[in-house]
Amino acid sequence: MDLSARPGPLRERARALLEANTRQGECGGRRYTYTVPSARSYPFQWFWDSCFHAIAWTYFDVERAAAELRSLLAWQRPDGFIPHVIFWDRRRAMQQTWHYLESAGWLAVPLLPVERGKPATSELMQPPVLAQAVERVFEAGAGESFLREVVPAVLRYHRWLLAMRDPDGDGLIAILAPSESGLDYSPAFDAALGLGRNPGPTRLATAMRLVTLRNKLTGWSSRRLAQGRAVFAVEDVLVNSCLISGLDATARLARLAGDEAGAAWAEAQAARSLGALLERSYDAEVGAFRNLDGPAETPAPVLTVGSLMPLMLGALPRAVVEALVARQLTRPDGFWARFPVPSVPLFEPEFRADSRPGGAERIWRGGTWINTNWLLARGLRLHGFDDEADAIARASRELVERHGFREYFNPLTGEPGGASGFGWSTLVIDM
Ligand code: GLC
Repeated sequence: MDLSARPGPLRERARALLEANTRQGECGGRRYTYTVPSARSYPFQWFWDSCFHAIAWTYFDVERAAAELRSLLAWQRPDGFIPHVIFWDRRRAMQQTWHYLESAGWLAVPLLPVERGKPATSELMQPPVLAQAVERVFEAGAGESFLREVVPAVLRYHRWLLAMRDPDGDGLIAILAPSESGLDYSPAFDAALGLGRNPGPTRLATAMRLVTLRNKLTGWSSRRLAQGRAVFAVEDVLVNSCLISGLDATARLARLAGDEAGAAWAEAQAARSLGALLERSYDAEVGAFRNLDGPAETPAPVLTVGSLMPLMLGALPRAVVEALVARQLTRPDGFWARFPVPSVPLFEPEFRADSRPGGAERIWRGGTWINTNWLLARGLRLHGFDDEADAIARASRELVERHGFREYFNPLTGEPGGASGFGWSTLVIDM
């Protein structure tokens, strides 16, 4: 039984879950506090989960929200990179040994009880929602000193993304593995993984692990990306939408902190990236955005919830917003299910209401998730589509009221799936 499904006002239950999932760790001789996504299934710190947790924490404890972000920034490298998983205690990576594949170096021998060579973090990134979280925490009252402390780190992070992940210089950043998108097994990546339409769960998992293994062998090399020789290189719509909204937030934060040059840089990059997204990845025939695969930028054949994510961008042209809403989001045989918004529209052959293609769990292949609902609802409100945002918020609350803070839900029946006590599902209190 999921304890977070107990009766009681939603906010109280959200707070209880965030508190129960709170952990402490040490980095560079200092103590830090963070929130694990799920005590049993995801016992480490994940990058975009922590950003969402920080936003939920602003309802209860602004200092705790700021501490959540500080714990991420503690692991930022001098070049700006922030890893997608932080194990904190090196020995704890042993709990899920396949994470070794997502790390750098070969010294790590999973079964030896010594720390030497074991990874403290992964080598992957996740959708860049850091600046958005920093802005919310600052607006909730974290104070000027927090702002001045974190703005340089936020700028450095975005400079890293554009310097290391945009080898063709078009303003769109590329991911080196599907997991970097945050939507791990999404069918948006099937073609880029060399799979045909609607692959079975084993072929899918094998293709994913192979990409990770080849990335490990080549040292997660951004140099190979720059040379057009990356193992996997996709310009992902959700990642780039987060990048652009992150740059917008970075510009506002930098300006508040008195860094006019940093603000101007972020603003110019945001405009350039938005122009590229519209020019290259918008499919006007269907009214949705598509991921671009490899140096040839081949558009992905499958639409997913990621295809709608540019809705989070205030500067998106009105005609594009209207097409996304009228032609895709609210299509009853697509994204507008009984419990919107499914991670894959119902009309795609890849859609699986229970996220179990061929019977085995493969997340992001149909389930409705609270974080993508939160991103879409905010975007819809930004563009004045309050009715649609309300409908998404109502459905999200109904799911969590009924079943607790689960990882995802069946968009047709509401049945819960995946992890219990799942941190970012507390975002329903902010919809
Ligand atoms: C899964 C999700 C990813 C998330 C992680 C921890 O891997 O696909 O987006 O960050 O779980 O919750």
